Amino acid sequence: MKVLGINCSPRRGGNTEILIKEVFKALEKENIKTEFFQLGGKNVNGCIACMKCRKKKDGFCHQKNEVINKCIERMLKADAIIIGSPVYHADITADCKAFIEVASYALGAAGKPLKHIPGAAVIAVRRGGAIHAFDSINHFFLINEMIVPGSSYWNIGIGREKGEVLKDEEGMSTMKVLGENMAWLMKKIKR
Ligand SMILES: Cc1cc2nc3c(=O)[nH]c(=O)nc-3n(C[C@H](O)[C@H](O)[C@H](O)COP(=O)(O)O)c2cc1C
Repeated sequence: MKVLGINCSPRRGGNTEILIKEVFKALEKENIKTEFFQLGGKNVNGCIACMKCRKKKDGFCHQKNEVINKCIERMLKADAIIIGSPVYHADITADCKAFIEVASYALGAAGKPLKHIPGAAVIAVRRGGAIHAFDSINHFFLINEMIVPGSSYWNIGIGREKGEVLKDEEGMSTMKVLGENMAWLMKKIKR
């Protein structure tokens, strides 16, 4: 079994990546494979309502969106998905929003192939907007009929500069418990 972690922060090696990889550690302890996908800071474009995905029904975007399509391809091969974003202006990053609106529409047209797969959001935040960002990502999982495991707290890590999130003991522990709960769920629903 494999979990795909998608980093929607443009900052490589930053707090969101650290949080995703903390969830990975707990998953790997349970012998679940992990795959990291860097999406933030790449060339991703939001939906332009061309409706080609609605006609083709193949789950992909039919505009110039190679990175998003590659990510969709990886998602379709995964047994669970983590989407991580830092808070930007009290919400997810623009890249994360572009990814979600395109992927959700294209996958919806293809009959929601991620149905019944676990999905979890992970948020890095300095001070405000984490719950809003967390909800934005969960909307993607819920409308795709995915299953959302919980943790000891909402999946949030606090920090501003690169690596600062490591000092947030409760945030790091929340990621560990999330990984454990995701592994438990994956084993229960193994297809
Ligand atoms: C453009 C921009 C907007 C931000 N907006 C917020 C915000 O609204 N609330 C907040 O608490 N932190 C905000 N931050 C801080 C980041 O959420 C924080 O530094 C986070 O840890 C970055 O994660 P990363 O290292 O994965 O990129 C913002 C940072 C940037 C660059």
